[in-house]
This record gives sequence, C-alpha cells and structure tokens, in this order.
Amino acid sequence: MATTSKHYDAGTPTPPHEVMAALDAYMENNFSSLLPVDKCWQPSDLLPDLRSPDWLDEVSDFRRMAAALPDDVLVTLIANMITEEALPSYHAWLANLGSGFDRSGTGSNAMARWIRGWVAEEKRHGDALASYLYLSGRVDMRAVEVTIQNLLRNGFNPLTENSFAQGFIYTSFQERATYISHSGVARLARQHGETQIATLCDHIAGDEVRHERAYERLVAKIFELTPDDCMLALASMLRKTIIMPSRTMQDGTDADTDLFSWFSAITQRNGIYTTLDYARIMQHLVRLWEIERIDVRTNAGKQAQEFILELPPRYLKLAERAEARAKPCKPRPVSWLSGRIVGH
Ligand SMILES: [Fe+2]
Ligand SMILES: [Fe+2]
Repeated sequence: MATTSKHYDAGTPTPPHEVMAALDAYMENNFSSLLPVDKCWQPSDLLPDLRSPDWLDEVSDFRRMAAALPDDVLVTLIANMITEEALPSYHAWLANLGSGFDRSGTGSNAMARWIRGWVAEEKRHGDALASYLYLSGRVDMRAVEVTIQNLLRNGFNPLTENSFAQGFIYTSFQERATYISHSGVARLARQHGETQIATLCDHIAGDEVRHERAYERLVAKIFELTPDDCMLALASMLRKTIIMPSRTMQDGTDADTDLFSWFSAITQRNGIYTTLDYARIMQHLVRLWEIERIDVRTNAGKQAQEFILELPPRYLKLAERAEARAKPCKPRPVSWLSGRIVGH
C-alpha cells in the first residue's frame, strides 16, 4: 500500500499545520473511493420489511434462524453493537485533534467531510445490529439500551493526547479490530446456520476494511512528512496499549463488576477476537508502514523505532502462550440475555 517514499529530509520537521493541510489534500483526492456514499447499503436492505403483507411469516422465519446463534456469540454481537452505538460520539474527539479538522462541525474541507462521513457510516452499523437483536426476540433490549446509555455517559478516553498522529494510529488499529470481530461473528453464525446475521456482519466488516485503509494511509502520509514525530506517536500508543472503546460499559446490575473484562474473556474463548489478533494487528501495521525502513534522525526517534520493532514478536509469543492455556470463562447471568447464564 505504501504511499510513502522512504527517503525523508528529517533535518527540518514539517510543522503540524502543514501536515494537517497535506492530510486534507490527500483526502480530497481520495475521498470518493474511500467514502462512496452513493453505494452505501442501509440496515433496511438486510432486515425483514414490515410493510410486506407477509411480514408476520417473514419475522417468524427470521426469528427461527436467529435462534440458532449460541448465547456466547450473541454476547459478542451485543457488545459489538454497543460499541458501534457509541461511535458517532467520537466525532468531537477526532474533529478536534491537533488544531482541529472540523471545529465548527460543518467544515467543508476534506478531512471535516471524511470525519462526519465516517461517523455517519458507523451509525448504520449500530442501527443494523440493534434492529437485528430487537427482531430476534432473544435479547432484553432494555438492558442493552441501559448499557449504551451508561457507556455514553461514562465517556471514553482513547489516550491520544490531542495528537492527530496518535488519533489515526488508534483508528487504524481499531478499524482492523472491528473488522476481525464482525467477521468472526459472521464466521461462527454461518457455522450454526444463521446466515442472516452472517450477511449483515459481512457488510459491516466490508465497511471497516475501507475505513482501516483510509486511516492507515493517513498515518503513512504522516510518516512521510514527519517521520520522527510519527515514530514517537506510534511508540507512545503501543506503550499505552490500544484500549477498546467499550471498556467503560456497564449494565447497572449487581453482577456489573468489570463487564468489559468478562466480555473480553468470552470473546477470547469463542475465538472471535483474541490476544493473538491484537498481536497480529500490531505486526500488520509495523509491516504495512515499513517501520524498519523509515529514516528517523533523532535519538528519540531511533529509540522509538527499536522499541516498536521488538514488540510484535514479543506480543505474538506471549499471545500464543496465552492461547495454549486459555482459561475457562467464569459463568455469570447476563442481563442482556434476561439473566441466562453464559460462560464455559
Ligand atoms: Fe463500525
Ligand atoms: Fe469503521
């Protein structure tokens, strides 16, 4: 993919406002391929049409197939939906990074249009999954809605320190993580004969791939323009570890002790998103941005580069060991599933 030439004049770092202008120019030229609004699917394309004279039969068939999804996969799907539902709230964070891509919320520059277009696309993901879960009849929607409200109220800090480089590194990572998670639900759903949600999750995963590509290219551009700063930004994000946006979700029940950690264990156990996936994403990004070839000039930049290059093999080894001794996940009643016990 590399849009970067690997020879930089690092003697004079590019000022942040020039980097932001370059990102805007890049996005202006690539906007229509990365955000093809006219070709967007909508949730209604993939759900029963309740205007149909046969709507009752359609919904009955829909629910019959939805019953095939195992509860642990349903838990992952619900958490994915909750994550997606909170996504439009991240507009404020991304739009205000650096000196701001879209301070007014209605900017006409390409980055402003991209960020708004991106959250508008993400909104469809939450809508589609929420409608599926509602129609499936298998979920206590009120408990799910309370969790979404709590997540939005609790807020989320992706620890990107007002740096647009860190921000786009974060989104590059997250888009790939959500692609893996939606694809994983699709794969397991298909194995159990639930092709409706498999198709829906495949559509969502397709969007995530496109988003990932956009953010990865923006980071590649930042590496091209200001390699030392971007190397420090990447090292900083990896040192902090990339935290998941649903980390602060709470369902408000008595059992609500670290709901996110329990959900992560379920998702590790069913193989939809694991520590190995985390390590592989890191490895993918280090290779894609060709970290070892980037010509950093400062001592701090070189140290950051060394630190980054050592991480993927170390994480892969640790993750493989963790997978080999994957622990059972403590069974617990799940408010989202009307108190049904889930765990292995
Ligand atoms: Fe999404
Ligand atoms: Fe996305």
